[in-house]
Amino acid sequence: MQFTDTIQTLPETERIPGPMSLEPILKTENLWKLYHAGKVDVPALRGVNLAVLPGESLAIMGPSGCGKSSLLYLIGGLAQASRGRVLVDGNDLSTMSDAERTKLRRHKIGFVFQRFNLLPTLSAEGNIAIAQHLHGDGFDPHRFDVVTKMLGLEGRLKHKPSELSGGEQQRVAIARAIINEPKILLADEPTGNLDTKNSEIVLAMLRQLNKDMGQTIVMITHNPEAAAYFDRIVHMRDGVIVDGVPTD
Ligand SMILES: Nc1ncnc2c1ncn2[C@@H]1O[C@H](COP(=O)(O)OP(=O)(O)O)[C@@H](O)[C@H]1O
Ligand SMILES: [Mg+2]
Repeated sequence: MQFTDTIQTLPETERIPGPMSLEPILKTENLWKLYHAGKVDVPALRGVNLAVLPGESLAIMGPSGCGKSSLLYLIGGLAQASRGRVLVDGNDLSTMSDAERTKLRRHKIGFVFQRFNLLPTLSAEGNIAIAQHLHGDGFDPHRFDVVTKMLGLEGRLKHKPSELSGGEQQRVAIARAIINEPKILLADEPTGNLDTKNSEIVLAMLRQLNKDMGQTIVMITHNPEAAAYFDRIVHMRDGVIVDGVPTD
């Protein structure tokens, strides 16, 4: 009997947990973010508790201004919490120096934004390779091939961003974000600037990255069709997670 057959015949409660750990790779505890606008404090986050398991794909939905980007920035160490904690792979970002946080971000987190943020003077290849060089381990041709093939970029690598479609540019941005094998990929409305067809391609590729490479992904969107590509959806409103309650 195959090992896999044995697993399948076990009752649910007896199954050996898979290789995935049940320890969250990402956790926020009572996370607050206040912005100072003149004399008033604008509370963008008002106590967010969120846990993401390794290998999960999570979509965060909610109306404009509810705090989605603020949450993603704090999770990714791009901004600091006013109160509460962010734990990335067991590291408490709030106790780290700026330098330590930058280092952790470089090694464990990849970012994708709505505006692709590619360097206009470099080719697609250059935009991806520079991330490998900045990372410090230098160019890894094998990883480069795997990632660019998975994202269907083989034939587009010599082109500058201005010579690529929006969908292709976003696929280059995704390649750049994951080239150094970050534990977590964070995406802020990655299809917000794309037409339906390109959105579908990008979303299908994100899902494939998650399913085939086990990439943990947290994506912000306000499009329910985009969110449906992901394993789990949480909804935000007014700076908190209102789980299970549709906000759109
Ligand atoms: N840098 C900032 N300074 C002041 N207020 C901000 C800043 N960034 C965001 N905000 C405010 O915080 C709230 C949440 O914003 P944001 O996190 O961008 O929400 P979302 O991504 O869901 O649209 C909004 O009221 C927004 O106006
Ligand atoms: Mg936003």
